Amino acid sequence: MERTYLMVKPDGVQRNLIGEIVTRFEKKGFQLVGAKLMSVSEETAKKHYAEHSERPFFGELVNFITSGPVFAMVWEGENVIKTARTMMGATNPADSAPGTIRGDYAAQLSMNIIHGSDSPESAEREIGIFFTAEELCEYEKAV
Ligand code: CMP
Repeated sequence: MERTYLMVKPDGVQRNLIGEIVTRFEKKGFQLVGAKLMSVSEETAKKHYAEHSERPFFGELVNFITSGPVFAMVWEGENVIKTARTMMGATNPADSAPGTIRGDYAAQLSMNIIHGSDSPESAEREIGIFFTAEELCEYEKAV
């Protein structure tokens, strides 16, 4: 079954949006297989955002994601990578539709509440950066 890495960013944690975001994915029908509130080290931030290392906003990105705790999650389900991206809305909150997480709660590109893997390769890489195999739960839903 497909898995994705989702992360409530420091702005989402500080605005008390963890519960709201988890609820949206639970109600959609996806299965939570790993979650933790954690601080991101500079080393981990640079690894996670390596593809943006040449961008002018890279420093700002690393500073922001290390500025306070994040809520790191792994979700499982059919087409969860693409569906989660749809539920998150466009990266730039100016373009994200109402009803999406960013469309409803974010107003700035640098503080856009949530991160989600954009491909199966990114999901595997990002899950490996933030979680050990022991931290992920394999379970069948009983209901
Ligand atoms: P995320 O999905 O976490 O992946 C990379 C992040 O870079 C993105 O969300 C935005 O928050 C951030 N980002 C993208 N473009 C810019 C920009 N021009 N200025 C600042 N931050 C940006």
